[in-house]
Amino acid sequence: MIAIGSDHGGFELKGHIMDHLNEKGIEVKDFGVYTEESADYPDCSKPVCEAVLSGECERGILVCGTGIGISIAANKFKGIRAALCGNVFSAKMAKEHNNANIICLGGRVTGRELANMIVDTYLESRFLGGRHAERVKKIHEIENM
Ligand code: RB5
Repeated sequence: MIAIGSDHGGFELKGHIMDHLNEKGIEVKDFGVYTEESADYPDCSKPVCEAVLSGECERGILVCGTGIGISIAANKFKGIRAALCGNVFSAKMAKEHNNANIICLGGRVTGRELANMIVDTYLESRFLGGRHAERVKKIHEIENM
């Protein structure tokens, strides 16, 4: 199960991504927002981060206007590694090297077809471990400082 959420700036793209994943038979749980009414991206990041941290969902997708605010907010949750991705290569590396458990996109930045490719690439990629695992471990050591 994939968790997805957005603020108003990411609402439209979130809908397109959900349609795309549904068409592929990938289960998605929508944590809102459910309208284009103005919403604060830190609030919107919370349910998706919690769903990933609890194990209810394996990975998450967050969308705001630029992807910046919602990624900054998500990365404040201990254990979240949220990667803002605007291209396919970053989406692959986000999982292979950084073991990102959430990717973030900008609804006002990234077109829907590119967004679909970014999401597909991220979901198809696997963490490579090894030296990358050591580096990811160091990220979480910083969290505990
Ligand atoms: C909302 O207007 C906008 O600031 C938000 O969606 C996001 O882009 C913040 O980083």
